[in-house]
Amino acid sequence: MNNALDGRVALVTGCTGGIGKVIAATLAQAGAVVVGADLPDAADGWAQETGSASYRPLDVTDEGAWADTIAAIDAEHGALDILVHVAGIVVVEKLEATTLDQWRRQMAVNVDGPFLGTKAAAQLMARTGADRPHGSSIIIISSVAGLIGSPLHTGYCASKGAVRLFGKACAMEFSALGYKIRVNTVHPSGVRTGMVDHIMSRFVEHGFAPSVEKATEQTVAAHPMGRMADPIDIAKAVRYLASDEAGYMHGSELVVDGGYTAQ
Ligand SMILES: NC(=O)c1ccc[n+]([C@@H]2O[C@H](COP(=O)([O-])OP(=O)(O)OC[C@H]3O[C@@H](n4cnc5c(N)ncnc54)[C@H](O)[C@@H]3O)[C@@H](O)[C@H]2O)c1
Repeated sequence: MNNALDGRVALVTGCTGGIGKVIAATLAQAGAVVVGADLPDAADGWAQETGSASYRPLDVTDEGAWADTIAAIDAEHGALDILVHVAGIVVVEKLEATTLDQWRRQMAVNVDGPFLGTKAAAQLMARTGADRPHGSSIIIISSVAGLIGSPLHTGYCASKGAVRLFGKACAMEFSALGYKIRVNTVHPSGVRTGMVDHIMSRFVEHGFAPSVEKATEQTVAAHPMGRMADPIDIAKAVRYLASDEAGYMHGSELVVDGGYTAQ
């Protein structure tokens, strides 16, 4: 897939995180001009390291910051082909102990973020997509938690299920409006990043496993392929959905989980 994205302009949120960084580097390697975005002051040397064009501070819950980001991309590049919503947080807590503030913050990052960003980018991506054989492409990183339930993840599952249907509804609406913007979601299971490390620690704190090692062992065993994903496994799926190879993928959910939800 080298050069598959030659000259395409991409925006990746959550770009300094475990999955976002590898997605940015993978899109850049395929020829895309990548703009990375993440929380302010999180990106020393990030653009150079990933081969990306630039980095912008962006809190995905801030509507005004989204407007500024899209306007800046339009001014500098005149196009936006690919938008990857990666930014996300996880609250690992019993339902009865989850505070309304935790619930709302998780919804703000995981659901408001893709809503605000898709809304802000729609016009520019429709304009860009009109000139491309298979349109422009929005990819939302959901989770297997958007497909099946999981203990200590009630709010997280709710947020990831919400963006799954949000993606499908955007796909339907954009087609109805004649916008050539494909919208798809990606559903990973366990991916070896800081987020999974945090989840494993919380499992131990809640007495679901005696140690982080044991919790990790149990999680790995739940994957029929015998391992958790590496970020590159997810990045390859994103690269595919971003490319013309995926020209007929629209409103779909791409499950990248080593068989986790097939059993
Ligand atoms: N790691 C996994 O096992 C796994 C599995 C399925 C889905 N996911 C999803 O993949 C995405 C990336 O997860 P990860 O494992 O790389 O986690 P991570 O914690 O390494 O990265 C998350 C990134 O999101 C950024 N972020 C958080 N709040 C933000 C905000 N308000 N504005 C902008 N950026 C913000 C963080 O700064 C961080 O860089 C998340 O949406 C997560 O829910 C992860």
